[in-house]
Amino acid sequence: MTLICELDTGTPIRVADSTVTLTIDGQSVTVPRGTSIMAAAATMGTQVPKLCATDSLEPFGSCRLCIVQIEGRRGYPASCTTPAEEGLVVHTENAGIAKRRRGVMELYISDHPLDCLTCSANGDCELQDMAGKVGLREVRYGYDGANHLAAPKDESNPYFTFEASKCIACSRCVRACEDIQGTFALTLEGRGFASKISAGGTDFMGSECVSCGACVQACPTATLNEKSVIALGTPEHSVVTTCAYCGVGCSFKAEMKGETVVRMVPYKDGKANAGHSCVKGRFAFGYATHKDRKTKPMIRAAITDPWQEVSWDQAIAHAASEFKRIQARYGRDSVGGITSSRCTNEETFLVQKLIRGAFGNNNVDTCARVCHSPTGYGLSATLGTSAGTQDFASVDHSDVILVIGANPTDGHPVFASRMKRRLRAGAKLIVADPRRIDLVRSPHIEAQHHLPLLPGTNVALLNAMAHVVVTEGLVAEDYVRERCDLAEFESWARFIAQEHNSPEASEALTGVPAAEVRAAARLFATGGNAAIYYGLGVTEHSQGTTTVMAMANLAMATGNIGKLGAGVNPLRGQNNVQGACDMGSFPHELTGYRHVSDDAAREMFESFWGVPISADPGLRIPNMLDDAVEGSFKALYIQGEDIAQSDPDTQHVTAGLRAMECIVVQDIFLNETAKYAHVFLPGSSFLEKDGTFTNAERRINRVRKVMSPLGGLADWEATVALSNALGFPMSYGHPSEIMDEIARLTPSFAGVSYAKLDAEGSLQWPCNEAAPLGTPMMHVDRFVRGKGRFMLTEFVPTEERTGALFPLILTTGRILSQYNVGAQTRRTENSRWHEEDMLDIHPFDAESRGVQDGDLVALESRSGDIALRARISERMQPGVVYTTFHHAKTGANVITTDFSDWATNCPEYKVTAVQVRRTNRPSEWQARFFDEDVSLTRIAAPLDAAE
Ligand code: SF4
Ligand code: SF4
Ligand code: SF4
Ligand code: FES
Repeated sequence: MTLICELDTGTPIRVADSTVTLTIDGQSVTVPRGTSIMAAAATMGTQVPKLCATDSLEPFGSCRLCIVQIEGRRGYPASCTTPAEEGLVVHTENAGIAKRRRGVMELYISDHPLDCLTCSANGDCELQDMAGKVGLREVRYGYDGANHLAAPKDESNPYFTFEASKCIACSRCVRACEDIQGTFALTLEGRGFASKISAGGTDFMGSECVSCGACVQACPTATLNEKSVIALGTPEHSVVTTCAYCGVGCSFKAEMKGETVVRMVPYKDGKANAGHSCVKGRFAFGYATHKDRKTKPMIRAAITDPWQEVSWDQAIAHAASEFKRIQARYGRDSVGGITSSRCTNEETFLVQKLIRGAFGNNNVDTCARVCHSPTGYGLSATLGTSAGTQDFASVDHSDVILVIGANPTDGHPVFASRMKRRLRAGAKLIVADPRRIDLVRSPHIEAQHHLPLLPGTNVALLNAMAHVVVTEGLVAEDYVRERCDLAEFESWARFIAQEHNSPEASEALTGVPAAEVRAAARLFATGGNAAIYYGLGVTEHSQGTTTVMAMANLAMATGNIGKLGAGVNPLRGQNNVQGACDMGSFPHELTGYRHVSDDAAREMFESFWGVPISADPGLRIPNMLDDAVEGSFKALYIQGEDIAQSDPDTQHVTAGLRAMECIVVQDIFLNETAKYAHVFLPGSSFLEKDGTFTNAERRINRVRKVMSPLGGLADWEATVALSNALGFPMSYGHPSEIMDEIARLTPSFAGVSYAKLDAEGSLQWPCNEAAPLGTPMMHVDRFVRGKGRFMLTEFVPTEERTGALFPLILTTGRILSQYNVGAQTRRTENSRWHEEDMLDIHPFDAESRGVQDGDLVALESRSGDIALRARISERMQPGVVYTTFHHAKTGANVITTDFSDWATNCPEYKVTAVQVRRTNRPSEWQARFFDEDVSLTRIAAPLDAAE
């Protein structure tokens, strides 16, 4: 295995309608018009020496190392800033060029530490390479003149250093932070010799920097360098794989030394991220080898017993015999399982196969239940398929972007950077969110409209926007006539035109001024290509599905589906939540979203698997827990989920878990749910297995094993062993064989194979005979369901009401540095940015309660209470408070309600009536949590040690 080195063409290869042909060093080359001479040379294998240029950035032209000569032109133009033109004859090497390049390099080296041999970037430094390339042998100016060799080192960032003495002021970092990341944290201060890089006059940690790593990636010297490289040395080989955090699905090169990851480098050929990254995927991989990893299978008779380490065979045999015993005693439907959106498609497929084949029921569910299940239902009903309509690149063509119930800069940062690039280029922005999220106003971006609606009123707001479209004659009539069901449209148009849906009538519900809604609706309908991007602020409501339908209605009415720059785009949370849904993780659906009552689909599985499959939908997670409390549901196999922390109404969840007789938890850590488990199977991280993840664009990306599973088995291997022990044989030599089975049984995956994925890099489903290379955009000429279907979306307020006792609305979300329940990110240096969950509260609400910034406050709802610190924030609107749920000890879900979406049971995390008051102690639940953290997680000494 070798280190994968991607070609750097120095400047971007342009996309253009026409080409030019020129001659470089006697060789003819044809490139798209607008491409630089440097990039043209690179395409024919000639690397012109360069320092300030790299192909992820626009050319800057400051270092003058890339000079060339052009016949018929005077002087030595920089090849990075000079466009290739028809008929040019260019020379990249001759004596005059070489002499000038050496002169440039001498100046750089005279002000550079001469510690190459001991430098962490030795062998991986462009300055070193270029010095060699231009033949530098001496520095005539000596090293004693004025210099920057004593410039201070900034080590404040936990992941990278800034060693100013090595800086050549090429500005690649500044431009990366601006153009790629869009944060504008860095500046090049001063001029000429006094030029220096500054992180806003402070250190990196204290600056606006979000630690995305783009500057580190761009730096041609060791000035910005990963601390892991400094500690471990330069990597020796690399493997391309996919980030296991969020639904953006960024591709990375895992750069390795043996089985140790030295660094994760964003992969330029990655279709989802094009070489960019965020702090999680780029740096927060240390959890994979954290000391908290549990690598031995364990069992215990009761949750109050200490865990006993056993062999894999013992653990699997024990789990299988318990499931059999329980089914024999309580019936076939008394057991079930939960698949993981953190695991691969192949692993998820196997878990639902085990449940359907070995357990003989459809009691399978997934964490999508608690996040994007309304997306599946709503988009399927209106458009005909349960997934987003576009690829990420589509946003480059958007003229208007509506972001609703999403906070992309924190939740989906790499896509947010792409979106911000489009916004800086002139696209208009509408943000519908109770909070003033970063996108509302950030460097060089300002939303045209911020609609700060009250949590729980999405449907009223979208209906009001649609009302404007219909009543002001802004409907895309030709599109609707041609593409949509006209009778349904007319019925919807009559409904939406009713006065109670007008912005004026809705204002009392949403709190958003009618004039602002009217202006936003007009912009959306008339501003060109209009795209909707949304997140859990849409789905995690009692009307989550209705909101998804309302967005589809708005997009269809304005002709914004089936073309570039438009669409209805869910920003999926977990890395493989799309895949988990695709793989048949819901109790009513087989793979590819075919209902279990569909005889033909069921028969396909039955004949391949050799078992009957129930035509009745199984239990959803909340039903499993309800039935457990009532006594009819007794055993659960949970792979890679932590429902005790992530699901709403924690006390009900733990009551359900406590009531079961056998819970098998398969995870990399002893998570909160494992406190109630009887069998623990060590999970494997994404670095320890092969497989695929499917991102928010329906893009199937390869996950590749870079180290051996710490527990000995990859997750899919453990599922195979359990299934075999249950008497439902499974046999696979490699996950590619599981994908072959998925392709055989799933029409939308029929054309997918590992060979094709390896050849193409990734594939977006549907991928089949009709679309052998996948489908970047859905519903292009017709909707998947035939005619687009407008749905009536009556606004029904949530039953959760504020009142005298609980006058505030709590809404929840996440932040950039932590991820979901925090199991991974809390075990990395990312905690430096977010050590605890805080309660954001508007100054007015804080003052009226005597709450100061940093005070410990009790947050009480009808379900329970917790204590956490307050942060006074102008981002909040009066009456609304906000917190995150990244720390188990906070117990944010102790206070959330058990209201849920009418169609899918997706919990209403985003609306809880609460009261806030000062306190000086943790809540009762939190005190119990700390006790149980000790009492329910004890591990007995190994038997041989005890003897
Ligand atoms: S890490 Fe990212 S945000 Fe921070 S300075 Fe570098 S480019 Fe900017
Ligand atoms: S820190 Fe690196 S990228 Fe930034 S100006 Fe210095 S050498 Fe160039
Ligand atoms: S944006 Fe998401 S997929 Fe990409 S690096 Fe960050 S966490 Fe990973
Ligand atoms: S690479 Fe062209 S001027 Fe620096």
